[in-house]
Amino acid sequence: MHNKTILITGGAGFIGSHVVREFVLKYPEYRIVNLDALTYAGNLANLNDIENKPNYSFVKVDITQANIIMDVFHEYKPDGVIHLAAESHVDRSIVDPLAFVMTNVIGTVNLLNAAKTIWDGDFKGKRFHHVSTDEVYGTLGETGLFTETTSYDPHSPYSASKASSDHFVRAYHDTYGLPVVLTNCSNNYGPNHFPEKLIPLCIHNILNNKPLPIYGDGKFTRDWLFVIDHAKAIDLVFHDGKEGESYNVGGFNEWKNIDLVKELCKQMDEKLGRSEGTAAELITFVKDRPGHDLRYAIDATKINRELGYQPSVTFEEGLSKTIDWYLNNQDWLDQVTSGEYQHYYQKQYQG
Ligand code: NAD
Ligand code: TYD
Repeated sequence: MHNKTILITGGAGFIGSHVVREFVLKYPEYRIVNLDALTYAGNLANLNDIENKPNYSFVKVDITQANIIMDVFHEYKPDGVIHLAAESHVDRSIVDPLAFVMTNVIGTVNLLNAAKTIWDGDFKGKRFHHVSTDEVYGTLGETGLFTETTSYDPHSPYSASKASSDHFVRAYHDTYGLPVVLTNCSNNYGPNHFPEKLIPLCIHNILNNKPLPIYGDGKFTRDWLFVIDHAKAIDLVFHDGKEGESYNVGGFNEWKNIDLVKELCKQMDEKLGRSEGTAAELITFVKDRPGHDLRYAIDATKINRELGYQPSVTFEEGLSKTIDWYLNNQDWLDQVTSGEYQHYYQKQYQG
């Protein structure tokens, strides 16, 4: 018998699949329901290893469908929601902002409404955890870090839609008393990352001898966290975070894009037994992304101080594990880069 039902949205995506795995394996006493629409970014193959566990089930639902979401909540009666489902790629948000409003804003409000309805003022043992991003804070200059009190200042349609969803989550807490927590995490990397994002795109292109496209001058800076360490932070905040509060999640691990790609090239050459410098020859500077934020960097002091959180791997270890995973799972890469991906890639990089 399961003592709690936790609904995880976006569980077939990159981060969501690691969160689902963490919860299914660590909490056999919970029933974990993975709700995902299986867009181009969702892939049930990410969960092959746990799909037959008795405490796991999957429902294919689009969070923009308010009535269906309400039905799912009535059927499963979740005690907790961990909400990761989103359109997540900045470049796609520049091409189709409305898709981001629909899923990230309307979809989030549909979930908040459904939780509010079925919990109906009885919030004991209930929790809605909204998974968000550091991109809501906008951009930093050369110095400084984002804290939980940094003002929101989003620049891309993606970050604007995530900022909006964060505001709705807080509004449901302040207006209706919904028991929420939020996490705002820096850039993730690791296994199962869809190869439209910088690191897996470069791994895929190195394997296929294709150019490594670096936007602008390559000096844009991101703060990278291994995805399993993000999943562990979500577990911690979901269970022990203070109601109504946000926690920034990051690993104090800043890299300029060009330096990161050079480090990746070095490790790939070593692992593939190629002479040093082979992969780096593929580096190609291309047209910059419009509205490109210069620098993101998280101050993760609060989650460390209050909840004792610390990442478990160094960046070098995490990157090495990530590359190994892609080298050992080339059929996964082949599967996700066939079909729609080719069309996207053509338009984004050659159109
Ligand atoms: P992803 O794009 O890999 O996966 C998104 C998942 O959501 C997919 O499985 C997709 O099928 C599902 N989905 C999309 N639209 C849906 C809809 N309308 N209804 C139901 N399911 C839908 O994203 P990710 O990188 O795993 O990000 C997960 C969450 O974490 C997002 O909310 C994102 O904003 C946040 N986040 C991501 C990062 C990062 O570096 N990737 C960093 C911080 C926060
Ligand atoms: P990305 O992985 O798309 O994550 P985000 O935009 O959410 O930070 O991009 C990471 C950084 O890499 C960002 O500064 C944009 C840059 N970038 C490139 O230089 N080339 C690329 O082909 C991509 C996809 C990203």
